[in-house]
Amino acid sequence: MLDKGLFRIPLPWPPRDPAGRAISPEFDITVVSDPTGCNTDRVYGLKSSNPHISVFRRPRMAANMKYVEPERPLSLWHIRTGEVRPLDPATGHRLGGNVMSDGRAPTLIAQMVDASRTHMAMKGGLSPAQQTQVRKFLFQVYAAQVTDRAGGRLDTGGAYLGPRALRDGKPAVVGAYSARPMFPEIEGWVTQRIASSIKWIPLVKLPPFPATRAGEASEAPAQRAFRDSVARGYLSFMYRQFLIRNVADLNAFIGNPVKQTCAACHNMVQTGMDVAPGYLDLGTTTYPTATPAPDLPLFRIDCHKDTPPHPYLGREIYTTDPGRALITGRCADVGKVVIQQMRGLAARAPYFAGGSAQDLRAVVNFYDTRFRIGYTQDEITDLVNFMGAL
Ligand code: HEC
Repeated sequence: MLDKGLFRIPLPWPPRDPAGRAISPEFDITVVSDPTGCNTDRVYGLKSSNPHISVFRRPRMAANMKYVEPERPLSLWHIRTGEVRPLDPATGHRLGGNVMSDGRAPTLIAQMVDASRTHMAMKGGLSPAQQTQVRKFLFQVYAAQVTDRAGGRLDTGGAYLGPRALRDGKPAVVGAYSARPMFPEIEGWVTQRIASSIKWIPLVKLPPFPATRAGEASEAPAQRAFRDSVARGYLSFMYRQFLIRNVADLNAFIGNPVKQTCAACHNMVQTGMDVAPGYLDLGTTTYPTATPAPDLPLFRIDCHKDTPPHPYLGREIYTTDPGRALITGRCADVGKVVIQQMRGLAARAPYFAGGSAQDLRAVVNFYDTRFRIGYTQDEITDLVNFMGAL
């Protein structure tokens, strides 16, 4: 809690379906090491009379919900995996799967009902009227960074970032799948001078940019330098291609490896979540790609012979958090985690579900190693400045 801001999430083992019936899992799970003692505990652990697996995860932002659970379904939702998402009986809309880090609650209402009964020990949970009120409240809360030490105010002028941009924006898919910019406000910071100064060669045609940006003449030198760097970092995030490999379930559907950009996975306007629904095994909690975390439990997953293996990790997997597999019981889901929204990042290190990246530089370094991108130090700084302004 003190070092990484992680919360213990106890999940029943075997997993249960929404009706509470036990699912027969495709794998056995063994506790290899248990530094917190929760998984081997006689009352709370895996071998207790009420078996649970405890994993440790970062809390997610409780703001900008318009993007997390959009009112209208986004067209992409079943393109990638072919998975037909369930319909929300209350609204008739297709459900996105972005609400929690393992997608276990299909809607905000389902999440709050569960939380009111378990964490808050409310008898009977929230009433339907209270659920609607809480949901309405959540949809009015917008949070984003408003100022930067070097960059100055980010929420003023013609191209403002900050919570207003989120309030005024509409959920939509970006980048890799359409020509839409992820942060139109930052794209407004890009000038032709900046675009032509980038060292990597864009394999996609960049849109034409103006000679100067609005308000540029009145920027102080430090502010101007920072905004230029943010703009370069943004271009890199949107358009710099590298080979993405062995990510379940991305590469199975669009090629392995596939030449794409950060925005291939982070593809929701204004928040950078994945709309399709957002769980992927990027390798932040599964070995060999996970950053070693001796403070977290380590599990061994042994997938049964008659079930489909994890496409890249096979049948014997070591992980600090099996992610979505703890909900579905599927071997192929081991390590899948739902992408967080990329807002207020500078205020809430560490990053990734298990807090394995201590700062934004560590996030970029993870990708640089994972996908052998070969960023220069300047490129890393630009990406860090870009993500630190959201
Ligand atoms: C193959 C898909 C994919 C690509 C490409 C990708 N990401 Fe991610 N990203 C993810 C997933 C999945 C997570 C969630 C992992 C977790 O929480 O452990 C994530 C998480 C993050 C986070 C952490 C957010 C938080 O609040 O903890 C940041 C920041 C981030 N990515 C930045 C980037 C940058 C920069 C790039 C390009 C260099 C990039 N991503 C490319 C899939 C991807």
